[in-house]
Amino acid sequence: MMDFTVLTLFPELIDAFFEHGMISRGIEKKLITGSSINIRDFSTDRHKTVDDRPYGGGSGMVMKPEPLQAAVLYAKKKMPESKVVLMTPQGTRFSQAKAWELSCANEGLIFICGRYEGIDERITSCLVDEEISIGDYVMTGGELASMVIIDSIARLIPGVLGSCESPKSDSFSDDRLEYAQYTRPEEFEGLPVPEVLLSGNHEKIRQWRKRSSLQRTFLKRPDLFRKNKLNLEEKKILMQWSQELEVFVKE
Ligand code: ADE
Repeated sequence: MMDFTVLTLFPELIDAFFEHGMISRGIEKKLITGSSINIRDFSTDRHKTVDDRPYGGGSGMVMKPEPLQAAVLYAKKKMPESKVVLMTPQGTRFSQAKAWELSCANEGLIFICGRYEGIDERITSCLVDEEISIGDYVMTGGELASMVIIDSIARLIPGVLGSCESPKSDSFSDDRLEYAQYTRPEEFEGLPVPEVLLSGNHEKIRQWRKRSSLQRTFLKRPDLFRKNKLNLEEKKILMQWSQELEVFVKE
């Protein structure tokens, strides 16, 4: 069972996330556990202070080390094997590969969500195992980032998704985007569902999906072909597509 513990100044945000959808089902099925810890509960002064002015001056506030340290140690006491992850735009970029890695490697993860201008550097150096960013943009806090990461890891844990859904065919799992999907009705706004999908011919459907996946990757994310080169079957499919396109050019 994998545990996700989120240290935050906005526990309600995180609690709502754990109470909905596939994540809450995963918790009900006892495949994962999820909880928030309010960093403010670990502040010891009368005003429950969690931030202070930066040494050296400058704008904004910095999260004080003492309440954060106490919160991390409290979380670690419950889950001593858990890895401590700091959400920060300075971290290594999160990816599907990272989601797979984190989904099997740990008893659990303890997320530190910063607010304001960041957290005292001594927390990062003494208590943080890994710094992760979800992209090159800056948010007002790490909460949304932690939920993005938990969501993408949790769905990889066996049993969290419904029995028919498999993360194996996800976009990015093999550096290819997922094929086009259709459901009823057979015709919508004059657009029919590709006939092969109604044929019941599993090999033909597999080939069609492979081709759809490659075409979408080619059109939307050609950079993925540089990461994971085309194999022989893929080359054949794209060659055939290019020959089909040539016919239009010559006409
Ligand atoms: N906190 C603020 N911005 C962030 C980002 N891009 N990734 C992770 N944590 C953040």
